[in-house]
Amino acid sequence: MPTKAGKVGIGIVGSKFAGELHATAYSRCADAEIVAACSNRPDELEEFTTRFGINKSYSDYHEMMKDPEIDIVSICVPNFLHHAVAMAACEAGKHVVCEKPLATTMEHAREMVEAFDKKGLKLMYAEDWNFAPALVRAKEIVDEGAIGRILYIRAKESHNGSHSPFAQTLDYCGGGALLHLGCHPASFVRYITGQEVVEVVASITEGFEKNLVHHGLEGEDFGVALLTLADGTRAVIEGNYVTQGGMDDCVEIYGTEGVVKVDLTFGSPLSVYSSRGYSYVLEKADLSTGWTKPAIDEFYSLGYETELAAFVRCVKEDLPVPEGARGIDGLATLAIVKAAYQSAAEGRPVDPRELW
Ligand SMILES: NC(=O)c1ccc[n+]([C@@H]2O[C@H](COP(=O)([O-])OP(=O)(O)OC[C@H]3O[C@@H](n4cnc5c(N)ncnc54)[C@H](O)[C@@H]3O)[C@@H](O)[C@H]2O)c1
Repeated sequence: MPTKAGKVGIGIVGSKFAGELHATAYSRCADAEIVAACSNRPDELEEFTTRFGINKSYSDYHEMMKDPEIDIVSICVPNFLHHAVAMAACEAGKHVVCEKPLATTMEHAREMVEAFDKKGLKLMYAEDWNFAPALVRAKEIVDEGAIGRILYIRAKESHNGSHSPFAQTLDYCGGGALLHLGCHPASFVRYITGQEVVEVVASITEGFEKNLVHHGLEGEDFGVALLTLADGTRAVIEGNYVTQGGMDDCVEIYGTEGVVKVDLTFGSPLSVYSSRGYSYVLEKADLSTGWTKPAIDEFYSLGYETELAAFVRCVKEDLPVPEGARGIDGLATLAIVKAAYQSAAEGRPVDPRELW
């Protein structure tokens, strides 16, 4: 049911980092109205609702689900809660936008996909890379045939570690850097090739003292996986928490007739030299002195704005969820990362389709 103003009504669960990404993106979408927000931290919630002009706030997401003005529930809580919040939303007849990863376990991810399918509701997997303007343009160029047939893709997301206390233990997050960061390249590889991954060979640091840097982290702080796609295309994906200097997201696509390279985070047209420093350069950058390449608008360049506008349109016009951003795509992505963990643990290639 739309809001009184005829807009798609949004309820956001989680009012911190991802909550802010979603709230900013929805605020820029003319067809969306953020009806309510929910968090178990009252102080944080009050600041959040005031900042974004949200009228209703809830401390219990079950209560929020009863609000008839909410069409879409945006899940911006730690990974281990994605399943419970999504199932409550589904039960209440709401569509869902779920942050990555879809869930911490394959069982939960499967249950979510099945429940939404059964109810005819939309489960939208928030893979922002698929909507990032530079990667959208890269896909258009590749689809046009400019680089011939794709042979090999190299893609990574890396920074110096998650800020979230929930990212420190496996029960809360389901994995380390390869899950949290490597899920973006894993999704994008499937999306741009239109192929399923049929084999994964991986190496990861194994947590705590086996990590390269983060000895208090239960999950890995470095993970790399070699993927083989159904047609033989290869991809190397990487997620690491050992990168200083700001979030580094890069994609290289090698084809029979050419190459496409995308620098998603350091590709700013702005260059700044400052001896004093300034307030913000880009995500996870800790220094702003000397030469820097400040982001102009990460909500846009990393895809959140166009992603959430696409999801709102999808609900408003009852369109199918875009390929690459369906619940099933979240499930397939999780399977690739879980296959990587199994491969690293058992020292053998693993077919992620066996985990679906
Ligand atoms: N797509 C992206 O680029 C991106 C970026 C950052 C985070 N994320 C994802 O977003 C999710 C949240 O991450 P974050 O960095 O915002 O975490 P965070 O720890 O910064 O914030 C979590 C929020 O959830 C709230 N919360 C916790 N338990 C709750 C409960 N039971 N009921 C209601 N609210 C509760 C907290 O109060 C907080 O507001 C994670 O799944 C993460 O992987 C995605």
